[in-house]
Amino acid sequence: MRKKVIAGNWKMNMLPNEAIACIEELAPAVKDTKNEVILCVPYTDLFYALLAAQGTNIKIGAQNMHFEEKGAYTGEVSGQMLKSIGVEYVIIGHSERRQYFAETDETVNKKIKSALANELKPIVCVGETLEQRESGKAEEIFTTQTRKALEGVSPEDAKKIIIAYEPIWAIGTGKTATSEDANNSVKAIRGELTKLYGNSVAEEITIQYGGSVKSSNAKELFTTSDIDGGLVGGASLKADEFAKIVNFDK
Ligand code: PGA
Repeated sequence: MRKKVIAGNWKMNMLPNEAIACIEELAPAVKDTKNEVILCVPYTDLFYALLAAQGTNIKIGAQNMHFEEKGAYTGEVSGQMLKSIGVEYVIIGHSERRQYFAETDETVNKKIKSALANELKPIVCVGETLEQRESGKAEEIFTTQTRKALEGVSPEDAKKIIIAYEPIWAIGTGKTATSEDANNSVKAIRGELTKLYGNSVAEEITIQYGGSVKSSNAKELFTTSDIDGGLVGGASLKADEFAKIVNFDK
């Protein structure tokens, strides 16, 4: 049985004092869950968040990284740097990075390999635009993104990856895919993983849904056959709301 994994993506929000307050409020509210709880925070919050989360079941992730270890890449942060302070997860290829920061399937693939080499667990985002969905190309888009992201990744490493299926039209819009639609898309991604790695590996890989997840729809989405939890943006900024999402099964 795959574990449910609920990850918050704070995006470019939360100053260190807000991050600490949020984690201090969240920790007691999620301490009894058997689900995995992750917060992916801005770089400037990482250190504070790691300290605030010490001794709790909340894991800390970053939202991006560079694929090189070090060097002349002004403004960038490497996987090695994240690992060195105790970060465990990193979001890679979020649609906002693909859209605004020229992230490509190729850079996504390089970042995944570098994350794995540094023992970080990548949360890899895939998903289609509204236009692609309306023209019937959604499945082709997100299965291709999945295949290209994992090019050259071994089956053993693939098991450490979390995939987040996030239809772009559902992100931050309040529009959620129906649980049936989202589950079908996640099944199609698992089908692609089966082609790449065989059934037993594919069955072990965590695939989340993301896009306007909130406490009122989390249960319906996360109790489908294939959705293994969620990547939560806006609703992860409030500790009480995020705690309800984490505790969807209580
Ligand atoms: P949202 O964002 O929950 O605010 O739609 C999800 C995401 O971008 O990961």
